Amino acid sequence: MDNMDRQRALWAAGDYPDLARTIEEVAEVAVEAAGVGEGDAVLDVATGSGNAALAAAARGARVTGLDLVPQLLARARERAADQGLSITFDEGDAQQLPYDDAAFDRVTSVFGAMFAPDQTRTAGELRRVCREDGTIVVTAWTPEGLNGRVFAVTAKHMPPPPPDFQPPVLWGVEEHVRGLFAGAEVQTERRTVPVEGDSTELWVQYLSRVLGPLATARAALEAEGGWEPLRDDMVAMYEGFNEATDGTLRAKAEYLVATVRP
Ligand SMILES: C[S@@+](CC[C@H](N)C(=O)[O-])C[C@H]1O[C@@H](n2cnc3c(N)ncnc32)[C@H](O)[C@@H]1O
Repeated sequence: MDNMDRQRALWAAGDYPDLARTIEEVAEVAVEAAGVGEGDAVLDVATGSGNAALAAAARGARVTGLDLVPQLLARARERAADQGLSITFDEGDAQQLPYDDAAFDRVTSVFGAMFAPDQTRTAGELRRVCREDGTIVVTAWTPEGLNGRVFAVTAKHMPPPPPDFQPPVLWGVEEHVRGLFAGAEVQTERRTVPVEGDSTELWVQYLSRVLGPLATARAALEAEGGWEPLRDDMVAMYEGFNEATDGTLRAKAEYLVATVRP
């Protein structure tokens, strides 16, 4: 299995479309920041089950969504059909976009481009396919925010990544994103999205079923009794962010919105 097959398998695992319902509001934030309007040619990179592609199409844009995982694209196509929206969904890699230079007016990626292994190349691709007077909007979890910490806590229990691995949450660091888009005008804003559940324990149980990378880690660790220590660390981490005092989970996950004029 090469690295991209591994990435594809990670996101095909679990039930990502179910989890994506909890971050739909971020898709609206991204298309608003990108200034998506009627008739714009929009590309949503790493669209998953299509949240931002659907939000852009609902504004009358001509939308293409791209993702690595065919199963997620199938779900995105079903959602578009259910909503009566016409969207093109293509299978592909954010590091090698199958589109002409300057093919799009707006390019969005909601917690998506951040997961492509070669960050410089990915940023270059987002820029290449965007018109010079267009707008790119990328959202990413910040390293110190709740969802950024999910990846760090998981990594602590897994074998070390390859030496050239760049943590996806670097896309949530202002200076890093400015470096990735060197020479462009980059505006950033930190925002939060609510994370709510009946309890932290139930949320971690849910997350370990639906979030592919965590579901995959759980399957690998369970065989050697390594899942419980990760689960306990994860629950403790969530408790640190929990604002509820009634046993439920009410927390906020911080993310960075980067708006880039190439
Ligand atoms: C956290 S999900 C976000 C999906 C969607 N943007 C949303 O807002 O729900 C991450 C997505 O990135 C996709 N992905 C990861 N690496 C990718 C790559 N190199 N090229 C294209 N898509 C990729 C995964 O398949 C997955 O759909």
